[in-house]
Amino acid sequence: MRLILFGPPGAGKGTQASLLKERKNLAHISTGEIIRAAMKSESPLGDEARSFVTAGKLVPDTLVRKLAEDAIARHDNDDFILDGYPRTLQQAEWLDEYLADNLVRLTAVVSLKVEDFIIIDRLSKRRVNKETGENYHLDFKPPPVDVPSKLIMQRRDDLPEAIQTRLKEYRDVTLPLEEYFKSSGRLIEVDGVGSMEAVYERIVAGVAAREVA
Ligand code: AP5
Repeated sequence: MRLILFGPPGAGKGTQASLLKERKNLAHISTGEIIRAAMKSESPLGDEARSFVTAGKLVPDTLVRKLAEDAIARHDNDDFILDGYPRTLQQAEWLDEYLADNLVRLTAVVSLKVEDFIIIDRLSKRRVNKETGENYHLDFKPPPVDVPSKLIMQRRDDLPEAIQTRLKEYRDVTLPLEEYFKSSGRLIEVDGVGSMEAVYERIVAGVAAREVA
């Protein structure tokens, strides 16, 4: 199975990708996580990306293309979930070129639909374990009591101003891609509001219907 999880920041792409990874044995390829790891290790790529990420802006296309293609290739071009890639028309066209060159067909693009006020709540209450990278939500999935509080941090791009910039980048640059995927018959729209389990079940049902069709 080869999926793209698409949607605004905070739609639950990472949460659902983790569930799909665990239960369907798919590789989770998150360009956001790859970029954050590069920033942490202070590699040249990380240093170049840092100011964009912190401000909530998209990192230039040329920086992410190779990251994404290398990660897909590492998983033999199969059984993967792309989380957060592509996010621009240029990235989508490069991905299609890459898939065609490698004779790979996407199973589906799952677009998670969540309204802005819910996104703002999710992102402002997200906390991250800085060692494991695990995401929490202060109300719906609080950090376990046995995790020391010094390990729990807030992402800098989850501060109010950066959230607004990310939402604007999404609306202006990324959302138009829905039309690109819809016109090629690959888009599945899924209501991303509800419990994490309920959203997961909707995704699995939507993808299964696509596989049968
Ligand atoms: P990235 O890390 O991909 O951030 P994002 O797309 O903004 O997505 P998030 O991780 O914020 O949200 P999510 O949809 O994964 O939601 P999550 O499951 O975590 O990218 C970061 C940055 O890297 C970008 O801004 C950009 O600078 C750069 N970048 C990355 N890819 C790029 C690309 N292709 N091109 C250019 N630049 C790129 O959930 C959020 C919160 O909600 C959590 O607290 C979670 O516990 C909670 N939650 C999830 N589901 C539910 C639910 N059903 N009910 C209640 N709470 C829920």
